[in-house]
Amino acid sequence: MAYQTIVVEIEDEVAVIRLDRPEALNALNMALLTELSDALAEADRNDKVRCIIITGSEKAFAAGADIREMADKSFVDVFTGDMFTGPIEAIMRVRKPIIAAVSGYALGGGCELAMACDFIICAENAKFGQPEINLGVVAGIGGTQRLTRFVGKSKAMDMNLTGRFMDAAEAERSGLVSRVVPTPKLMAEAMSAARKIAEKSQVTVRVVKESVNRSYETTLREGLLFERRLFHALFATEDQKEGMAAFLEKREPQFRDR
Ligand code: HXC
Repeated sequence: MAYQTIVVEIEDEVAVIRLDRPEALNALNMALLTELSDALAEADRNDKVRCIIITGSEKAFAAGADIREMADKSFVDVFTGDMFTGPIEAIMRVRKPIIAAVSGYALGGGCELAMACDFIICAENAKFGQPEINLGVVAGIGGTQRLTRFVGKSKAMDMNLTGRFMDAAEAERSGLVSRVVPTPKLMAEAMSAARKIAEKSQVTVRVVKESVNRSYETTLREGLLFERRLFHALFATEDQKEGMAAFLEKREPQFRDR
C-alpha cells in the first residue's frame, strides 16, 4: 500500500515501518497515526511478517504529537475526537512483537509511541522526554503511566515536571530501553533482534508477549498463574516437542508454528 507519511518495507520476514515526516521531525499528526495503525494491522495480518520494527530518521524517532495540528483544538474536539487513543490502541491489538528502534528525539507522543512497543533499542544519540508541560499540557498516551512503570516514580516525575530530556545512557540505566548501540548500527542491531525473534515458534512468541504484557495489568499472584497456565498449554504444541527433541539431539530446532 502507498503511504504519504510512513515507509513500509518487508525484509527477512520483518516489517520495518519508518516514520517519514522529516520537515516536522516526524511529529505525529492524524494522517501519520492513521497510516501507522493501518500498516500495523496489515503487518499483523501478513503471514510473511514475523516481527515488526518502528523507526524514524537519525535525527528524530518522533518529536511528539503535531503541535501545529493540536494548537487550536478545543476541549470538546480532543475529548470527543479520537486524536490519539485509537491509534495507540491499534498498537496494543498487534499480536506480533514490535521493536521501537529509536535514534534522535523521542519526545512527548514520540516517547509514548516507543513505550507502547514491546521493547526499545536506541542509538547513542537518542533523547527521550515528556516536555508537554512546556506547552501547558500533560502527556496523554502513557507518559505519566508507562514511563512511571518503566523508570520509577522519581525519574517519571522529574521528566514530566521539568520536561528535561533523558539521554541514551540514562535511558538504559533506568530500564527504559533494552540496548544502546552506536548510532550508525541502530538498524542492524534492531534487524538482528527481529530476525532472531522471527526464527522462534510464533506460537511461543505470542505467548511470551501476552505473558509479559499481563504483568502490567494484574497482581503478581494472578500473573504467575497466567504464566504457569501458558507454560502448561505449550506442551500441547508440536513446537515444544521439536524444541526439546532438537536440544537432546544437539541440532537446531525446525519450528513450524504449530
Ligand atoms: C510540530 C514540530 C514538532 C512538533 C518539531 N517540529 N517538533 N512540528 N509538532 N512536535 C518542527 C519545527 O516546528 C520545525 O519546523 C521543524 O520541525 C524542525 O524543528 P526545530 O525546532 O527547528 O529543530 P531543533 O532546533 O533541532 O529542535 C528539535 C526539538 C524541537 C528539540 C525536537 O523541535 C522541539 O522542542 N519540538 C517540540 C517537542 C515537543 O514539545 N514535543 C511534545 C509535543 S506534545 P519549521 O517549519 O519551523 O522548520 C505531545 C503530546 C502527546 O506529544 C499527547 C498525546 C495525547
